[in-house]
Amino acid sequence: MLGLSALLVALLISLFIVQFLKLQWACRRLPPGPTPLPIIGNMWVMDFKRQHETLIKLAQIYGNIFTLWMGPIPIIILNGFQTVKDGLTVHAEDVSGRPSTPFWQRVASGKGIIFTSGHTWKQQRRFGLMTLRNLGLGKKGLEHRVQEEACHLVEFFMQERGQPLDPSFPIVHSVSNVIAAVVFGHRFTIENKNFHQVIESYDYMVKFGSSVSEMLYDIFPWLMNHLPGPHQKVFYCHEFLRSFARNEIRNHRENGPPDEPQDFIDFYLAQIDKSKDDPTSTFDEDNMVQAIFDLFLAGTETTTTTLRWTVLDMVAHPDVQEKVQKELDAVLGPSQLICYEDRKKLPYTNAVIHEIQRYNSVVAVGVPRECIRGTVLQGFPIEKGTIIIPNLTSALLDPEQWETPRQFNPNHFLDKDGNFVNKDAFLAFSAGHRVCLGELLARTELFLFFSNLMRAFTFKLPEGVKEINTEAITWITLQPHPYKICAVPR
Ligand code: HEM
Repeated sequence: MLGLSALLVALLISLFIVQFLKLQWACRRLPPGPTPLPIIGNMWVMDFKRQHETLIKLAQIYGNIFTLWMGPIPIIILNGFQTVKDGLTVHAEDVSGRPSTPFWQRVASGKGIIFTSGHTWKQQRRFGLMTLRNLGLGKKGLEHRVQEEACHLVEFFMQERGQPLDPSFPIVHSVSNVIAAVVFGHRFTIENKNFHQVIESYDYMVKFGSSVSEMLYDIFPWLMNHLPGPHQKVFYCHEFLRSFARNEIRNHRENGPPDEPQDFIDFYLAQIDKSKDDPTSTFDEDNMVQAIFDLFLAGTETTTTTLRWTVLDMVAHPDVQEKVQKELDAVLGPSQLICYEDRKKLPYTNAVIHEIQRYNSVVAVGVPRECIRGTVLQGFPIEKGTIIIPNLTSALLDPEQWETPRQFNPNHFLDKDGNFVNKDAFLAFSAGHRVCLGELLARTELFLFFSNLMRAFTFKLPEGVKEINTEAITWITLQPHPYKICAVPR
């Protein structure tokens, strides 16, 4: 019996050694990194609550391009502005794939924009971009919708009369309504319970998407499919969101095509019709439903979180808030409709918005990419199928690019005469072929929401509250802790 146990132990140790040596052999052509162990790889070095900071620390040891093993999978990490930018743009097509985990594979089924690669991604992305343009961004169409939502948000805060409130729900409601206007062509009132459920379902999915339960699902998908748990609620939320979208599509179909397409669904239905005889077309109802899901998922969480940080940063930096208000008062009339174009006359306000995005780095470590063919990154040959993580925070906090990277400082985006200056290292929306598809819409939203709120209110801590927590919680995005502030009418 003892002999058998000893044999088993010896076998296990030999297997471990063989695996260990195999891993070292696999490492020889990859960028450097901590030594991987069988089964766990380098998981032991990761602080999953502060991934972006762990990656910045590891770059100080291994250099701006290094390898981390997540279990048996090598992941290439890009760190610092120049490496992130070059990694995403020098061979932009080579790194334009998106890896899929079993969880996102089950949710997206290879459809839509965010979780696809190759032909489907190219068609769906190009169509998404073109539709946003056609819906009037840069002209007046969508901008008008954003203005309308900004006014609703101001009205909502006004009703609170300076009493303490958590601004999260009114903000997410307004931001989701902008996407609803883009996709469905109409908004939902704050009383609409079905729309509340839409918002809550996306929120639940985002939180699940970076939880231990998601990791378990990715390791044991087959088993988890048969077990109860939060993943089952996520699939229920996803199904609810799909049927919500299908219902809107049905209404559009029943109303027939309008003279001029008014929203994403109108354009998509026309596109399905146009390409019905094209065998290479990916335009069908399943791709439409998933693209709608993607626009909501990518377009609400990021913008909402940035606006929640905006309010918090203004409370934490009352001097900045005052300077923004002075600039707005000097340039705009008290009831003048604010346009995106006005940012050019408001350099300080524009700089503050950019600094809020830089300083809070909402998309933390970026969204993973996959090499669609063999390529070379910073001199290292990288095989097809390799996963790449562009640590966006490391570019937004790069000490070589920013004067005071860890301090909130709007001067990062101003020259000595107070003019606004764009910075190459501002990679909040990423770079390369998969750069944020909604960048222009997001910029319009941030500017119009911020300037309307700042013109109408001064944000303050509730009476008796002396401090506010500015630490971030890591979900898919870096979020502030829940807080209450007073929006005091000016
Ligand atoms: C402050 C707001 C926003 C930030 C910081 C942001 C940031 C990002 C980032 C970092 C990516 C990943 C790009 C990559 O793969 O390298 C991304 C992708 C994407 N974003 Fe945004 N985003 C914002 C708002 C929006 C809005 C409003 C929309 C909707 C219209 C949107 C739609 C998308 C889509 C569809 C993708 C996937 C693109 C693809 O895979 O080709 N985003 N965004």
